[in-house]
Amino acid sequence: MKQVRVKVPASTANLGPGYDVLGLAVELYNELEVRMEKVPGGRSAKVEIFSQGEGAGRLPQDEKNIVWQSMRELFRAAHFSTDGYVFKIRQTNRIPLARGLGSSAAARLSGVLAANALCTKPLNEQRVLELAVRLEGHPDNIVPALFGGLGISALDQGKVLYVRMPAPPGLRAAVAVPEFELSTKKARAVLPKKVLHTDAVFNVSRVSMLVGALAGRNYKLLDRAMDDRLHQTYRKKLVPGLEQAMENARKAGALGSALSGAGPTVFAFAEPVRALAVANALARGFASRGIKAQARVFNFSNKGAQVSCQ
Ligand code: HSE
Repeated sequence: MKQVRVKVPASTANLGPGYDVLGLAVELYNELEVRMEKVPGGRSAKVEIFSQGEGAGRLPQDEKNIVWQSMRELFRAAHFSTDGYVFKIRQTNRIPLARGLGSSAAARLSGVLAANALCTKPLNEQRVLELAVRLEGHPDNIVPALFGGLGISALDQGKVLYVRMPAPPGLRAAVAVPEFELSTKKARAVLPKKVLHTDAVFNVSRVSMLVGALAGRNYKLLDRAMDDRLHQTYRKKLVPGLEQAMENARKAGALGSALSGAGPTVFAFAEPVRALAVANALARGFASRGIKAQARVFNFSNKGAQVSCQ
């Protein structure tokens, strides 16, 4: 019998202009525990899945479960035969589903990391990363969820290039998590295939300034540096209250705000003393459109994913 535990943090991707590029890990963790047992005379792999917390009761408990699917992909890539084994999976999910806080990235990453710890010839870290990114489709949640801190990622013909920076010291993540879900697929489907050169230049300037402002702790620049023209404008029709939430947050002292990932959660950087007021201000933006939202404050996580074998 072999057993592994994995903890993977939530993350807020894009940070406004850094579409599919930037992501920051926050201290909200999904946990996964997998026991792998040999069954005498057993043939193809069996799986038993138990989920608690977010999504419990509606997450698939069979082949459709994305943690299990990700584990299988890793086993395939590492040429590990699962024949004759039973996998007992326990998921403890704290990251709200389909809200823009990286729940699917965390699920996929936890699956590949757990499987990698269980197989005889594990893949190196870069291959694990690239597999998780291929399964997820974009790197901006996976990189910070794996390494912690601020991830800056680029895809280069299947390779994942990244820079990892520490999370900005002295800041908190204030968020409002609305009660409705929004699938990333739907939020990507509203984006145009082509953008204006002027809008591309606008985002290049903002995202460069954003990284510089975070690295240099020049937090006064964040508000303007988080402006975006590549996705938020198109997505606001899917997120009623988004603009009001961002406006409220600014008035409550937010340093900068953005749609979190593909949404519908809205995120703001805030100083610790103002963070709760900012989160409440974000939530009032949703309330103005009759939508309930949970106001929450998180520390950023510099740790990333943690794997322990027993
Ligand atoms: N960068 C992705 C998007 C994040 O905005 O669609 C999804 O988690």
